[in-house]
Amino acid sequence: MVSRVIPVDPFDLVVFGATGDLSRRKIFPGLYRRFIAGQVPESSRIIGSARTEMNDEEFRAFVSSAIEEFVGPKQRDAESIARFSSHLFYVSVDAKGESGWKALAGMVRANTVQAFYFSVAPSLFGDLAERLHHHGIASASSRIVVEKPFGRDLASAKELNRTLALHFHESQIYRIDHYLGKETVQNLMAVRFANILFEPLWNARHVDHVQITVAETVGVGGRGAYYDRSGAMRDMVQNHLMQLLCLIAMEAPYRFDPDAVRDEKLKVIHALEPVEPDDIVRGQYRAGNGKDGGKSYVEDVENPASRTESFVALRVGIANWRWKGTPFYLRTGKKLRGRASEIAVVFKEVPHSIFGEEEAWRENVLSIRLQPNEGMTLSVMIKEPGPGGMRLKEVPLDMSFAEALGDSGAEIPDAYERLIMDVIRGNQTLFMRGDEVEAAWAWTDPIIADWEARDERPKPYDPTSSGPEDALMLLHRDGRRWREIRE
Ligand code: BG6
Repeated sequence: MVSRVIPVDPFDLVVFGATGDLSRRKIFPGLYRRFIAGQVPESSRIIGSARTEMNDEEFRAFVSSAIEEFVGPKQRDAESIARFSSHLFYVSVDAKGESGWKALAGMVRANTVQAFYFSVAPSLFGDLAERLHHHGIASASSRIVVEKPFGRDLASAKELNRTLALHFHESQIYRIDHYLGKETVQNLMAVRFANILFEPLWNARHVDHVQITVAETVGVGGRGAYYDRSGAMRDMVQNHLMQLLCLIAMEAPYRFDPDAVRDEKLKVIHALEPVEPDDIVRGQYRAGNGKDGGKSYVEDVENPASRTESFVALRVGIANWRWKGTPFYLRTGKKLRGRASEIAVVFKEVPHSIFGEEEAWRENVLSIRLQPNEGMTLSVMIKEPGPGGMRLKEVPLDMSFAEALGDSGAEIPDAYERLIMDVIRGNQTLFMRGDEVEAAWAWTDPIIADWEARDERPKPYDPTSSGPEDALMLLHRDGRRWREIRE
């Protein structure tokens, strides 16, 4: 099976922060992959921009080395890289000053799809937006792409929204949450809304609880300064886990259309119950044999007094007719035993077991693996073969997307590729709307304010564990168990 490539119109894409880490790791390698898939039309231009002085040739060499490093050998060859390079240009600009803007204005064409990717610190968003306007570069149809973190609380998110709104309409603003670009995350919507099978069971009457786990083996490494000001709650829960929760819990949008989808997600966020302090466990990794060096969290961030969490687990309730009474357990952390992200929908027991109490019975679980080995498993009970009565056995109906989809499944595109192309196409479905981000912060803020007021140390946990013991208790006390974190 060959994957379908939808053509796009020629575009001018300006990447501010072109020399930064995200550009090197994700944006340019992603654009290259789209190029070899035939989605960068002939006259399109990718214009790198940063403060560093560089000419086009130096920039092309910079991007080529990023491709060498981050694109698999099967997808790269010198000839394709050279052809891709002919789309690359560079203009040095000063976000806070006037230098370079005239040159940029001379490069970006009117009457072409224009997108400006702000891969820079949020403190520069306002400056870039203002100068794009002042120099007549952006028009009413230009799009801007902004990266997380979108604020660090409700007040700062509102301020960012206000700043961007001075120059751009909401329909021009693409706020990235790269989890929405992951194929399996989009598959959540396909599974829920393109099959009749699950919907009748998708509610508090039939679902006992839901577990959302995003476990990482890496520590905070070189990002200590940023991370120590954020912690797992701001870095992962307010955005990525929140998005997963919304897609699992939302009502069917009337259409797969940007505002219809985002309206439904927003309703879920509004319905989230406040989280009681007893329903949260925060952790911090100790020193030990982690995959990412042996240092403890406080050594990694070089802040011996740090009370920032590198792990958080919480029990979340949704106060609406569909979900009242079904807890959603969320957990995420660094330096855990495996890199595994999974959503598990755990169904209730059968109302009466006709096979008697002694027959081991396990609940049905629909598990959606986001990474690695993207796929879906439904555990079902069957009869164990052989004579000797009716013995029950739990077996998985297992589907690996890569196997099920053949060749096209083997090439699951990176989240950024998909999202950048959506910007070029002008499709905002997989981007967060301003009100959605603010609602997510409005729910997160009191949780963080409460623990800051109590000033408690996060619970220590060992690298390669499943997080602190107390996180296990969060489920044990409800008579439930976390699913194993398995790579
Ligand atoms: C980022 C966080 O948004 O997501 C990182 O800032 C985290 O701390 C990363 O490691 C996880 O993304 P992925 O795609 O590797 O699951």
